Amino acid sequence: MSGPPIAPDDAPSLVLGIETSCDETSAAVVERRGDAFTLRSLVILSQDVHRLFGGVVPEIASRAHLTRVVPVTRRALDDAGVAAGELDAVAVTHAPGLVGALLVGMSYGKALAFAAGRPVIGVHHMEGHLFATVLEHPDAVPPFTGLLVSGGHTLLLDVDAWGSYRLLGATRDDAAGEAFDKVAKLMGLPYPGGRVIEQLAREGDPTRHRFARPMVRANQTLGDDDYFDVSFSGLKTGLLHAVRRAEAAGTLDEERPHLARGFQDALIDTLVEKTYRAARAFGRTRVVLGGGVACNRALVEAVRARVAPRGATVYAPTPRLATDNAAMIAAAGAWRFAHGERSGWDLNAYAAREIPGLTRTTTRDTPDSHGNTLPPN
Ligand code: KG4
Ligand code: ZN
Repeated sequence: MSGPPIAPDDAPSLVLGIETSCDETSAAVVERRGDAFTLRSLVILSQDVHRLFGGVVPEIASRAHLTRVVPVTRRALDDAGVAAGELDAVAVTHAPGLVGALLVGMSYGKALAFAAGRPVIGVHHMEGHLFATVLEHPDAVPPFTGLLVSGGHTLLLDVDAWGSYRLLGATRDDAAGEAFDKVAKLMGLPYPGGRVIEQLAREGDPTRHRFARPMVRANQTLGDDDYFDVSFSGLKTGLLHAVRRAEAAGTLDEERPHLARGFQDALIDTLVEKTYRAARAFGRTRVVLGGGVACNRALVEAVRARVAPRGATVYAPTPRLATDNAAMIAAAGAWRFAHGERSGWDLNAYAAREIPGLTRTTTRDTPDSHGNTLPPN
């Protein structure tokens, strides 16, 4: 990163965001004034074709982005009433994601920025998810505990300032959304599975199937290396066995809602416990959820039920901003722009990359000394 002088932090800026990391072609215009982010426009085109294959087919995704990225961006600029020349910067997702898909958005974003004489800023997709909530909830600003739950990632972060992310925990195997999608497949449900399972689970009996809560033990303490981590592969295997039993008994159709409920309750309990631990360890009174799984109302309500009585507020984006979208990329890009960041024209795409500003901590140096405002249980 290099470039022109650092813009004053509070200078207003208008940023176009482009997101093509997976199966949504999206463009948005966001205006930033100081700490306030205003969504001027957002266009999201979902590539429904992947449902036929039960998962995202990379080459089909790239080709669909290629045919749609120009009209989608045009539409976002028109909806905002902004000409390319009026933009301050173009922010584009450059990692992580499907490389072929990323390259499409990046090539177009660079060309547009180049033609308009504006800088391009590469944005990390998961940092984008952290910025989604502030577009709807102006108070969803650091310091906060961040739980990012998407199809590819499950990250528990302590965010003391934008750009400064302390990684507390992550999944040891499947991401939360991936677990929803795989379990849906096991039960013969369509892709993506999260929304379908949530709907089915509403009808399910919570006492019928009880699965073990992964990585949650009564005697865990702050020094344990699995204190904040999660793991969902054992839960998935437990579900597989239960599905097989139901199939053998010919009862899968009637068991589906109960299985969905048992699975969802176990996954949510785990995420809630870890999130609560993180907020408590750092004395945070704000919890920000992000990523596609944050669409899940049962999850949001369960986190709220756990931390609200202890004085913390939970912020979650609406589904449009929780799932992949370019508004979150524009917001993160606008913040980076205001802090002087510019990417070079040689900006590249990466399938996997760490969020910039991420630090790791062993739980041993996690400060209980930050002052626990959230009392234990
Ligand atoms: O953040 P996202 O749109 O894309 C990635 O960056 O991965 O997340 C997609 C994931 C999928 O796994 C999908 O099943 C899950 O979010 N998802 C949900 C719900 N809606 C979407 N999971 C649980 N409950 C939902 N209501
Ligand atoms: Zn995402």
